[in-house]
Amino acid sequence: MTVTFARPLADRSLEGGAVGSPWPASARTAPGGELLLGGVGLAEAADRFGTPLYVLDEAEVRSRCRAYREALPQAEVLYAAKAFLCSAMADWVAEEGLGLDVCSVGELRLAAAAGFPPQRMLLHGNAKSPEELRLALRLRVGRIVIDGLAEIPRLAALAVADEAQRVLVRVLPGVAAGHHAAVRTGVAGQKFGFPIEGGDAAEAVSRVLAQPSLSLAGLHCHLGSQITEVEPFLEAVDRVVALLAGIRDRHGVELPELDLGGGHGVPYLADEPELDLAEFAARVGERLAAACAEHGLSVPRLLVEPGRAVVGPAGVALYRVLAVKHGTDGRVFVAVDGGMSDNPRPSLYGARYTVRLVGRASTAEPWEVDVVGRHCEAGDVLVPNAQLPADVRAGDLLAVPVAGAYQLSMASSYNLVGRPAVVAVRDGRARQLIRRETVEDFLNREVGR
Ligand code: LLP
Repeated sequence: MTVTFARPLADRSLEGGAVGSPWPASARTAPGGELLLGGVGLAEAADRFGTPLYVLDEAEVRSRCRAYREALPQAEVLYAAKAFLCSAMADWVAEEGLGLDVCSVGELRLAAAAGFPPQRMLLHGNAKSPEELRLALRLRVGRIVIDGLAEIPRLAALAVADEAQRVLVRVLPGVAAGHHAAVRTGVAGQKFGFPIEGGDAAEAVSRVLAQPSLSLAGLHCHLGSQITEVEPFLEAVDRVVALLAGIRDRHGVELPELDLGGGHGVPYLADEPELDLAEFAARVGERLAAACAEHGLSVPRLLVEPGRAVVGPAGVALYRVLAVKHGTDGRVFVAVDGGMSDNPRPSLYGARYTVRLVGRASTAEPWEVDVVGRHCEAGDVLVPNAQLPADVRAGDLLAVPVAGAYQLSMASSYNLVGRPAVVAVRDGRARQLIRRETVEDFLNREVGR
């Protein structure tokens, strides 16, 4: 069974050929510099819907969901909505049999309104509001992940013993992993979870077990994001299983669930590593079985919460070039109509992307340019040291792949630039999922002066 997402890098000079990593599997070059995604021409989509435009390949999202189900048939796979959520996304995930990890009233209500079954949702948050907890209970979400001592009596008071709320306790195994310090959440010294070392996690577990209106289903940990190696997960398994054994010894209960969170890395650039899903499934399964056998525990059900690996590679961002400027030091700035407002990742984490010209065939030599945004900061650089044809000019269309995760979900309206529209492509047809944010939207929010 092959479930890895890795694809060979195709020859990009072949018209009509597959484009290859890191582009979606459906990406094909076409005459005139056009690039097809899901059978839809991106230049055509840009003309029809305007730019900046985010294009989501529905088949890519679905096949990624399926790859998770196939690789981890015994596990529960919950898509992490924070990567990107809209009603269509909720539908695709639901139809492909995944659960949903939500972390706000907004995500909860959008998913519920889309008809996503609340029983298959799990609520996260280091600072859940009373409104969030009440809504989660009212909707009867499947699980709530406890992430603070004060939350325990608060949630217990809102829940009722007859219908005890299923909860997990978020623990810190002391394993650091992830592409940037801002997203490494498996160790102490940051705001999430209860450290295992020192006894905080065990104390939280005791307090939850003492609440009749809470039903402790298991432990949760999320190490970080954009992890490309399996080893950190294996270490986490060892440490969390040791805690499960301690809980059994102290309280006489064997918790039936272990949630290893998300963080599965994807390639943003050609030839970058990604987390090998088949390897993850095999080695985590083996390690979990071995660790449980060592402690005389029955093997808990595994839960995983991938976000980026489900939706990131399915998205392509399209920008129109507004200006090309030659700096005094020989640098060339290619300025586009989006920037840090629709993709804050380069400025937040130094995230790297690739970019290509779309909709015009060029035989000009490639030259090195900085693709910059339109916002009022020198740091608004989308793709530094990009390779684009030397005749790149205003009016050209640029496409940036792996744009599906943590771009729109973290987008802002900086400089009162509206957030982009989102379009889904499938079988040669494009349909708009989210309309562009307009100046009228901004004016409508003005209710006083
Ligand atoms: N579960 C929990 C509890 C999480 O906090 C996250 C992500 C996930 C699952 C999904 O992680 P993923 O599989 O998508 O890596 N904005 C950053 C990433 C932030 C991740 C936040 N938590 C970025 O763009 O790199």
